Amino acid sequence: MSTEFTTRITEAVVASLDGTADPRLRELLAALTRHLHAFVRETEPTTAEWERAINFLTATGQACTDTRQEFVLLSDVLGISMLVETINSDTTDTTDTTDTTDTTDTTDTTDNSDDRPGATESTVLGPFHMTESPVRELGADIDLVGGGEPCVISGRVLSGDGTPLPGALLDVWQASAEGYYDVQQPDVQPAGNGRGLFTADAEGRFWFRTCVPSPYPIPTDGPVGDLLRATARHPYRPAHIHFIVSAEGHTPVTTHIFVAGSEHLDSDAVFAVKESLVQDFTETDDPSLARRFGIANPFRHARFDLVLNTSDAPGVRDPEGA
Ligand code: BEZ
Ligand code: FE
Repeated sequence: MSTEFTTRITEAVVASLDGTADPRLRELLAALTRHLHAFVRETEPTTAEWERAINFLTATGQACTDTRQEFVLLSDVLGISMLVETINSDTTDTTDTTDTTDTTDTTDTTDNSDDRPGATESTVLGPFHMTESPVRELGADIDLVGGGEPCVISGRVLSGDGTPLPGALLDVWQASAEGYYDVQQPDVQPAGNGRGLFTADAEGRFWFRTCVPSPYPIPTDGPVGDLLRATARHPYRPAHIHFIVSAEGHTPVTTHIFVAGSEHLDSDAVFAVKESLVQDFTETDDPSLARRFGIANPFRHARFDLVLNTSDAPGVRDPEGA
């Protein structure tokens, strides 16, 4: 192997990009070339290994359909989706997002001015936000099939300075108690099961009923599944509920809450767990609160606030790169 040639070819490919009109595209392609060439120089793949890699990527593309994105799944299991998500998010680490107020008590006068949490951290979108969530009233049950452990999710949507955000939108989706999204079981679950689009009330409060979610495996019947098996990795995600929260004048956040104590919190197949997003689903024995939520007592209750940064907050990245 000629070291001189393997170095010169990298420079030649990078130089071939000089005419690229878009400077950012030139930067990205040049860095990609340098990193890929360095990978090849370091690992020295055989021709058969390179062919296997090409076949794997070809199969990944061929597995994509209108309802399945195997390349996104590949990016997820390699931790790239979380890297991109985190680099582009404008949130700081949160330490305490616990909602200490009673959701249905509209006379609440809790002083939120001290020890304000940072903005809610983001995490992966995932492939199952593929359908519009049905508009639901606050307090509605998004579990249309039952069979799981009933619970209440409640809290407030706040601005970074602690101001409540009335009218904030919460798009929520989760898998059934058996660990499947409605779109994965169109013959078993009604469309919209586990989904809801909620509008926070005049104090920025939200509350809804559902079942405690379960851990579930990401799809393993394609090339990404082959990769997980070849590397002796399990395909499970810890139990979670997805949220996209938006409010006027604020940067929307795509996130989850994870169920404290769930299996696989320390080995999420897509590396999406952030400590601040893990929430207790507390066993609650309070007949009067249960009546107000319209749920049988006792029940599990997850209470937390979702905090958005204002769109002009320092550190918010302009998606156009300006
Ligand atoms: C999900 O949570 O729905 C998910 C995220 C990434 C990959 C597969 C599934
Ligand atoms: Fe999910």
